Amino acid sequence: MDTKTGKNAMRGKLVVGNWKMNGGLAANAALLGEIASGWTRPAGRELAVCVPSPYLVQAQAALSSTPIAWGAQDVSEHAAGAYTGEVSAGMLVEFGCRYAIVGHSERRANFCDSDGVVAAKAKAALLKGIVPIVCVGETLAEREAGTTEAVVLRQIDAVLDKVGQDASRMVVAYEPVWAIGTGRTATPVEAQAVHATLRVRLARSGAVNVPLLYGGSVKADNAQALFGMADIDGGLIGGASLKSTEFLAIAHA
Ligand code: 13P
Repeated sequence: MDTKTGKNAMRGKLVVGNWKMNGGLAANAALLGEIASGWTRPAGRELAVCVPSPYLVQAQAALSSTPIAWGAQDVSEHAAGAYTGEVSAGMLVEFGCRYAIVGHSERRANFCDSDGVVAAKAKAALLKGIVPIVCVGETLAEREAGTTEAVVLRQIDAVLDKVGQDASRMVVAYEPVWAIGTGRTATPVEAQAVHATLRVRLARSGAVNVPLLYGGSVKADNAQALFGMADIDGGLIGGASLKSTEFLAIAHA
């Protein structure tokens, strides 16, 4: 334990870029090259990018000789079969993915990913050795109704119940829906309060040391204050991960 920050040195520090549905071959090549050459790999820190599935082969080629990991933005709960449009965890393994985001609020809201589906996706990833980045977070209406804690605990409990002791191999990201892409970030104190709640619940499942990321309008100028909080172990970065200088500044914060 670092007595100044209250941080546990056991926990890895991780910054992950979520490109969402952005990119193109030429732009990706430039971005991946810039990130690879600019990442100084400070001790105990890891950097990763989660790209659209068609670009996994490009990410693999660009990053496999670097310390930067890559992953997908979703994964099927099914192993194989008649599931048109889906991508399985086994397929992600073939492209060297370390991570798969599951339960992003955009998928929960737009693609009907329920708590049960998110839990099944996390389990499917873990079964193949892929680390699920499990996203939880409340809407503005839920925050204003005072139900933030109940919402994030309901979301994380669904996953913990499903994956059992494999929970220690996950990553969790708290992303308040009202802070995503809005420029309105949670304050470090607001984010820390939710992270502390999640940490207690994870500890009960033997997963006290999983990296707990914050996501939602993280920028170079607010990353350091957020990442300095006791239970914030890094970030899940949307818009700012598409600009190499901004992303690298966040990753080095
Ligand atoms: P922004 O960083 O663009 O707010 O997006 C956050 C996010 O959704 C990352 O998964």
